[in-house]
Amino acid sequence: MPLDIPNLKIIEKNNRINQVLTKNLIPGESVYGEKLIKFNKMEYRVWDPKRSKLSAAIFKGLHTLNLKRDSTILYLGAATGTTVSHLSDIVDKGIIFAIEFSPFVLYNLVLLAEKRKNILPILADANKPDEYYNIALASDLIFQDVAQPNQVEIFVKNARLFLRPEGEALLSVKSRSIDVSLKPGKVFHKVNKELSKYFKEIKQYNLEPFEKDHALFYCKGLKY
Ligand SMILES: C[S@@+](CC[C@H](N)C(=O)[O-])C[C@H]1O[C@@H](n2cnc3c(N)ncnc32)[C@H](O)[C@@H]1O
Repeated sequence: MPLDIPNLKIIEKNNRINQVLTKNLIPGESVYGEKLIKFNKMEYRVWDPKRSKLSAAIFKGLHTLNLKRDSTILYLGAATGTTVSHLSDIVDKGIIFAIEFSPFVLYNLVLLAEKRKNILPILADANKPDEYYNIALASDLIFQDVAQPNQVEIFVKNARLFLRPEGEALLSVKSRSIDVSLKPGKVFHKVNKELSKYFKEIKQYNLEPFEKDHALFYCKGLKY
């Protein structure tokens, strides 16, 4: 069964996902040039799996996420807000703390947040969560996409501080950012093994053909 969360529509064709859409929080506005589509007088934005690893993971079978309209999300590595914007459609009554350490990149995210009031951009290093400890709240979902060699360490550090006990955490991994000399499958195996020291439940989604040498790890049940 495909993912069933608020403000998300999955269109299937021949029993396969054909399109993933989110209900546009700001009708008439496209964020990164994505198509806008009308269904029952409501406007949806096409969530491009080649532009967002979360959309790619949904295409590749991610079907369990507990997001509600009022959920709190901590997003690490927000960039200009492509994926953040779709999450902002989903948690239309919630909040997204969007961490990004490049001021140049954050500028676009600030422009996005002026229109989308549920995004709070924060200029900070995800490796130093004490920089935003007094701003971000306990979260239902942590999403991390920072392409750093120590990304598992960063992920666990943030989960320990911000993830609610019943919360879920998603880690996007680009194998080359961890070890260029190893085959992606070996890197992902090592990451999975490392994550299993900290989480009770782990599911792995290979993001090809949408993202080469990338995998997304779904984690739940942080071991305290
Ligand atoms: C691959 S991009 C993220 C794309 C984004 N997740 C999306 O789907 O729209 C990675 C981003 O993480 C940021 N980044 C890398 N290391 C970081 C860190 N330690 N703290 C905060 N941001 C970081 C980079 O500046 C970059 O904008």
